[in-house]
Amino acid sequence: MDLNVPKHIAIIMDGNGRWAQEKGKSRFYGHYAGAEVVEPITLKAKELGVSYLTLFAFSTENWKRPREEIDVLFKLFKEYLIRKEESILKNGIKMKFIGRKDRIPKDLLQYMEDIEQKTRKNSSIILTLAVDYGGLDDITRAFNKLLKEKNEVTQEDIKKALDTCFLPAVDLLIRTGNEKRISNFLLWDLAYAELFFCEKYWPDFTPEDLCMIVEDFSKRKRRFGAVQPVDMI
Ligand code: IPE
Ligand code: IPE
Ligand code: MG
Repeated sequence: MDLNVPKHIAIIMDGNGRWAQEKGKSRFYGHYAGAEVVEPITLKAKELGVSYLTLFAFSTENWKRPREEIDVLFKLFKEYLIRKEESILKNGIKMKFIGRKDRIPKDLLQYMEDIEQKTRKNSSIILTLAVDYGGLDDITRAFNKLLKEKNEVTQEDIKKALDTCFLPAVDLLIRTGNEKRISNFLLWDLAYAELFFCEKYWPDFTPEDLCMIVEDFSKRKRRFGAVQPVDMI
């Protein structure tokens, strides 16, 4: 059977803290373990033929966490970009970032811009990390941009003003960590996404799990509000 591979997969990488705490370790340990899962999942997505993979790394609400955890996360993102740069380049991955740019540490921002620049011509898969991202915040910033130019807007105008302007609509949203909510991720772009909630915590998520979920997606019938000819009587 030919697999109907989603063009754009988005993942809410949730459960790092609980994964660690259940092992009697600190939440930080869970974040480090979670970061290690990003590369194998990206490579598997690329191998499957997925064109866009978008990962939720830090939400606009995650600022409510203790300062120490926030600092560990930003330090981890920076270290990760430095450590994985070679592999990202070798694998022809194009890296992009979405989210606010005015609150994250300047040194991290510099690494983000550097890697976007260095990988801009790559095309094997577009890997987008959402850092200080919130769907409501993205839509609000888009509206404020548009207010300066127009007094009436179309859906296309809104899409073009979003951080996600370069991304097609999400086909498949996966959330690990056994919670069934969107937590203010890509609101505009999830309009017709297929949803998959996985019980596993993110550090336990494997490339095989991704394949299994893509197979499940492949069997789903997407109607986009219409009636399929086969459904008509
Ligand atoms: C997801 O794991 C990573 C981030 C939000 C940065 P969590 O840190 O939310 O882990 P749980 O949900 O508390 O287990
Ligand atoms: C969503 O997870 C954000 C990321 C994975 C980066 P949260 O753990 O922050 O979401 P809630 O608080 O359970 O909704
Ligand atoms: Mg969580």
